[in-house]
Amino acid sequence: MVVYILFLVTVIYNSCLIIYAIEDYCSTNKFTNDGNTMGFTKEPSLSEYAILGKFKGLHCCAKGYRSIEWYKDGRPYPWHGTFSPLIIYPESANQTVYTQSVTREDAGNYTCLLRNDSVVYTHTITLRVFETLPDDPKITYISENTSACIGEPLRLFCEAFVGFVDLPDAYSEAFWSKSDGNDTFEDGSRIHQIKVSREDGQICGSYLIINNLKEEDYGKYTCTIIKPGRLMELFTYLSERKNSVTYVPPNEVPYKKLFIAAAITILLIATVIILYLQFGLVVRVFCKDHFGRLLE
Ligand SMILES: *[C@@H]1O[C@H](CO)[C@@H](O)[C@H](O)[C@H]1NC(C)=O
Ligand SMILES: *[C@@H]1O[C@H](CO)[C@@H](O)[C@H](O)[C@H]1NC(C)=O
Ligand SMILES: *[C@@H]1O[C@H](CO)[C@@H](O)[C@H](O)[C@H]1NC(C)=O
Repeated sequence: MVVYILFLVTVIYNSCLIIYAIEDYCSTNKFTNDGNTMGFTKEPSLSEYAILGKFKGLHCCAKGYRSIEWYKDGRPYPWHGTFSPLIIYPESANQTVYTQSVTREDAGNYTCLLRNDSVVYTHTITLRVFETLPDDPKITYISENTSACIGEPLRLFCEAFVGFVDLPDAYSEAFWSKSDGNDTFEDGSRIHQIKVSREDGQICGSYLIINNLKEEDYGKYTCTIIKPGRLMELFTYLSERKNSVTYVPPNEVPYKKLFIAAAITILLIATVIILYLQFGLVVRVFCKDHFGRLLE
């Protein structure tokens, strides 16, 4: 009996944790730009992974929308007919769909459609379901190579599904480093990282946050993902972008046109002089003969 109650308490406690975590997900680590134009509030994952029978949540964290609609392989929510279809988590304003126990049939492409009065955005997440934990980490997000101006803020993100390894000293994490430096980006420095995990540590990620970009920040960044017995490195390049707004192309002097115009002018003047020298007398005599007499 005691064992049974303990079991029950554990189950309830665990499911509370999970619900708390999915409720929390869209309200943490959001982009810092304000304004309420429609858009995503954090990096949306393209791929998600789950183990058969385990909890799984999919998220489209957004703002400025009037409604979010979900589709699975093109079919609108609700998804009847399968054993354990994902359901919308209404407390997160429809940003999350989840299931307590993933089935094989849950695998597929989940599309969220954000709508306001004038714009529609869609984002598709591919969910793969594994029967047993794969050995290698599975990437859920890695920032693309990017360029930024000096002085700008910047944020990179990487994340991978590592799964839950039930060993006493099992340890998984993701962290950023710069390939040509020793900086580990600890708290409080201009560049720092925020390590995150979700779904009970099955998914590990890290945000690299750069305030006020400097010349020396350009280069190659490495996101290292470690899980027991495995290590994976992902790379993102940060390059300089010249501020194109203040760049005005200098007015080129049109030497070629000027030269042609000058040549034509000289030719015209020469022609007039030659004509005058050749026929000037004849014209004057002709004029005198014809008009001179009329004037008398
Ligand atoms: C949330 O989803 C439900 C079910 O699809 C829908 O009726 C409701 O309008 C949605 N609400 C928002 C804010 O998108
Ligand atoms: C999901 O999308 C991918 C890429 O577009 C496609 O290859 C795959 O067949 C889709 N899966 C399903 C179940 O529709
Ligand atoms: C990294 O650390 C080593 C030893 O502490 C030092 O010799 C080296 O100059 C450092 N490299 C950079 C790029 O800071």
